[in-house]
Amino acid sequence: MSPGARPSRSRGNTKQKPEKTWVAVEEYMDELLISSDAALDAARKANEAAGLPDIAVTPSQGKFLYLLARMRGAHHILEIGTLGGYSTIWLARALPADGRLITMEAEAKHCDLARANVARAGLGARVDFRLGEALDLLPELAAEGLEPFDFAFIDADKENTAEYFKWAVRLARPGAAIVVDNVVRDGEVADAATSDERVQGIQRFLDALAGEPRVSATTLQTVGSKGYDGFTLALVTTQGDAGVGGWFR
Ligand SMILES: C[S@@+](CC[C@H](N)C(=O)[O-])C[C@H]1O[C@@H](n2cnc3c(N)ncnc32)[C@H](O)[C@@H]1O
Repeated sequence: MSPGARPSRSRGNTKQKPEKTWVAVEEYMDELLISSDAALDAARKANEAAGLPDIAVTPSQGKFLYLLARMRGAHHILEIGTLGGYSTIWLARALPADGRLITMEAEAKHCDLARANVARAGLGARVDFRLGEALDLLPELAAEGLEPFDFAFIDADKENTAEYFKWAVRLARPGAAIVVDNVVRDGEVADAATSDERVQGIQRFLDALAGEPRVSATTLQTVGSKGYDGFTLALVTTQGDAGVGGWFR
């Protein structure tokens, strides 16, 4: 974490240690199903060498995102929370050559590393890096009047997840998929009395999700080298706010 950064920016993982079996199964599956990959390996090494926190998605989670985006036939992807671009590389690979991914990151050091990692992976032309607080960048993006997104991955500060989700719905086309990471947090999400602000942020997001008639969603719990956590997958079933920045023409 760079000096002065808010602690929540670098604490995306669970508190409990992963069980040995979860890690062994993950390694077994990765060995069988995920080919070794020079660009992704180089990105991980560069991020580690630069002292970035170890909070990127795992290879199996990255491939899962890649498969979801490919199944969706995504052309326009929004990512909130770039870190060193590890998930960005997975998602950008799911795009066709004329596809575009916009990724938002508050830390300049993270953004610079991600840019270098993505360029090394040969994906620089498909990825548009936006440096700043996502809550400032999202209204600017809406004002640009770009094509709506058909896939979004939300993986930044958990306290603002509800707002990121509302923006993602607003900027999405019908049929878009929205994935939100780290929503289970060692099971603490089910604790109504939690004092953890990140967990409270996820609870606010889940309340917003439950009250949003334009999406259909579910949450899957996960275990692995990153501990016990989970992600929410939402499908935007009907059109978002009409007329916002010309998104729905
Ligand atoms: C969990 S990491 C993202 C990991 C990345 N998606 C991956 O899997 O490779 C979260 C990132 O969100 C960034 N972040 C935190 N708060 C933010 C904010 N308000 N606006 C934009 N980015 C933010 C952090 O600096 C950090 O790099």
